[in-house]
This record gives sequence, C-alpha cells and structure tokens, in this order.
Amino acid sequence: MNKNIVILGAQWGDEGKGKIVDCISSDAEYVVRYQGGHNAGHTLVINKKKIILHLIPSGILHKNVIGIIANGVVISPSALIQEIKMLEENDIIINERLFISNSSPLILQYHIEMDRAREKKLGIQALGTTGRGIGPAYEDKIARRALRIGDLKNTKTLSERLKKIVHYYNYQLVNFYQHQSIDYKMILNDLLSNAKVLFNMIQDTTHILHTAIKNKKKIVFEGAQGTLLDIDHGTYPYVTSSNSTIGGVMTGTGIGPKNINTIIGVTKAYSTRVGSGPFPTELFDKIDKHFSHQGNEFGSTTGRKRRTGWLDSVSLCRSIQINSISSLCITKLDVLDGLDEIKICISYKNIYTSKIISFPDINEWEHIIPIYETYPGWSQKTLGIKKIEDLPYQARAYINRIQEITQTPISIISTGPDRSDIIFIHDIIHINKSITLNTI
Ligand code: IMP
Repeated sequence: MNKNIVILGAQWGDEGKGKIVDCISSDAEYVVRYQGGHNAGHTLVINKKKIILHLIPSGILHKNVIGIIANGVVISPSALIQEIKMLEENDIIINERLFISNSSPLILQYHIEMDRAREKKLGIQALGTTGRGIGPAYEDKIARRALRIGDLKNTKTLSERLKKIVHYYNYQLVNFYQHQSIDYKMILNDLLSNAKVLFNMIQDTTHILHTAIKNKKKIVFEGAQGTLLDIDHGTYPYVTSSNSTIGGVMTGTGIGPKNINTIIGVTKAYSTRVGSGPFPTELFDKIDKHFSHQGNEFGSTTGRKRRTGWLDSVSLCRSIQINSISSLCITKLDVLDGLDEIKICISYKNIYTSKIISFPDINEWEHIIPIYETYPGWSQKTLGIKKIEDLPYQARAYINRIQEITQTPISIISTGPDRSDIIFIHDIIHINKSITLNTI
C-alpha cells in the first residue's frame, strides 16, 4: 500500500505544519511543496536550534529525503538560492536532493514592486500581504504571461520575453502607482547567474512523483498557508493567491486524488491570523497577550505580530469538509497552560437578526459574533509531554471536546516547538472517520 500523506493548514496558516512534516517524514522518500511561495515560513527547532524555511520543503532536514518544489509553487530564484545557502551553512547538504518543476512560475523583482505598490495605494484597506510578490506572480500565471522555471533553459527567448514584461510592469508602476521603475538589465543579469545555480535541479516533477508512486515510495505533501487563506474557499479578498486547500495538491503537482492515502489537517489549540480580514474569535485582552507571549506569535516571514483568538470550530469544521480531512493534528497545546478557562467558538450569530449562521457569505463576516462554550483550564505544564496519559485531565477533556464537535479523530498533539515535543495517538495512515472516536 502507498503511504502518501498530505499535511495542510486548517486555519489561517502558521499552524505549525513544518514541524509536523519534519516529524512524520523521517521515513519518507519525498517531501513536496505544491502551492504558495516564499510567503510561507516554516519554523523548525532541532536540538534547540531554530531553522526557518520559506520555500524548500521541511522534510529536507532528513538526509534521505528528496525535496520537490512542484509546479503549483511560485519560485523566487534568489530566495531559493539564499535558502539553499542557509541550509548548507547549517550542514544540511541538499546537493542532488532537491528538484524544482520546469512549470513553476518565477517571482521576479517586478512582482515584489507591484505587490508593495498596490498595498501602499490601498492604504488602510491593504490586505496585509507578505510583500513577496506572490499575488502578482500568480496573476501572471493566469494571464499566461509568466516566465517559468523551464524558460531559464533558453536564454535568448527568456531575455526577449523578459524585456516585454518589464516594459509592461514599468508602465503601470510609474504611471499608475507613481512607484520607481525597475531595471531590465539588472533583472536579466541576476536571473542568468541564478539560472546557472538552479539548472541541474530543473525537472519534470510530475514524472518523478508518478515514478515514486509506482514504486510505492512514501511521499509527504507539505501545505503552505491555511484553508481560510485559500483563493477560492478563504475569506476573500483577504486571502493568498493559491489553493491552499486539498485541490492545490492535485493541480500543484499533477498527481490524482487516488494517489493520496491520508489528509491531516493541522490546527493550533487556539487561533491566529496575520494580515487583514475576518477573524471572528479575535481577542484584544490579556488572553491575547498570553497567546502572543507564550506562543511567540510573531510572523516567521515578516516578523509581524499575529492576531490571536480562541479556537473557532465553525471554520475548523468547514476546513474538515473542504479538505476531506482524515484526522486532525492539534499544535501548541502547551500555550494554553496556566489559563483559568478556555473557550471554543461553537457557532456564529448574526448580530442584527440573532440567527445562527452555518457559514458566513462574503458580506456577512462583519455582522457575526462568536458563541462560545467554556471549559476549565489547567495549571500544570504540558510543555514537552510525550504521552497522552501524562496530560492533565482538563487538557484531555478539551481535546475530546474538539473531537466531538468536529466528529474527527485527533491523531497527533504537539506540546512544544522541539521535534521531540509530540504525542502520536493514532496510526495516521489507517485512521478514518468511521472508527469510533475513542475518548482520549
Ligand atoms: P500574500 O500571500 O503575501 O499575498 O499575502 C496574502 C495574505 O496571506 C496576507 O494576509 C498574509 O499575511 C497571508 N499569508 C501569506 N502567507 C502566510 C503564511 O505563511 N502564514 C500566515 N499568513 C500568510
């Protein structure tokens, strides 16, 4: 049997997917990024050392794993090379262990300038993007004008097309956004020197993956961002520009749904969001301070303070549906240590009609308030606990309640930032919803 696992975010990103991918990929042969770009920030702590990856799949930290950046990812060649260097400085040699799709669209300087110019113009209505050029790069893909990784192999056509695109962007940047123009020669020279470094990594990654599937190799697909930031299913327009939901695995790699054996949705034991947009359970009180401080809730890509709130089971249930999540992984349980009480949002109410809303439509988000259930907290430390029976009973009751509300088994609990701070509850491959939700 194949053992192909998807790990994806069930909230607004930053759920701690990187650590989970790292933990379950020690026996994997391939770890694959399928969407997003270097807007992601996957923080890993190994032997007390912090490593932040933005583009390269987290599984690369295991020496036997082959990393794949598939066609759904938008790639900044300079960011990728910088990351390869950072890994090498940390003695993680990726030589012949990293392949990038020839179909991945490139992120170049004009995308970054455009992203920033647009955000500036939007003023207080800004989306709060990471400023990495992600949106404009995906726009180019859909508009069929993108330069792609495979284009790096043909210097002549590359330089001709680049010239036209730079002209197109400069016109908008200067005339519409009153922004500085960009220099074609500089982009071309950078690109040509970066192309030399990346040349041997460029492959037909769809073919690599199908060969791996045929040979029953274990593949882990590593999601970036989260379900509520998905371009189609998220809180539009406050979303990223890719499909961070399950569909992104298929379109972003070229494998089929039947090639996936299990889908793990990762959620924090509470909620966070960076950037603007709806966040029903958001807190502004001392609990926000507690989450920020105990959970170190500052963006690993931009350093921005993350907004924090209670766990929102309404949006979590929606994520479970959209992604066909087989089981949940709860991260940062230890951040709840020391709270007198803990809440879960169990429904949304329209403030004007008092009606309970199953899920808000695009204009309804501003008019809803969360309805909570409250549970007792615990004073003991759960940081680093490795066995479910060692958790305080209040923590187990909280976990059980999440299972009950979502009708989804919880297979993994993360109790701290380190690789070893983890509790495995179920066999993640064979788990499915028809099993009885055992009381933990
Ligand atoms: P973009 O992806 O840079 O275009 O940003 C669009 C929205 O997605 C903004 O609200 C960002 O803060 C958010 N976002 C993008 N990447 C991440 C991530 O990795 N974690 C959390 N939020 C993200």
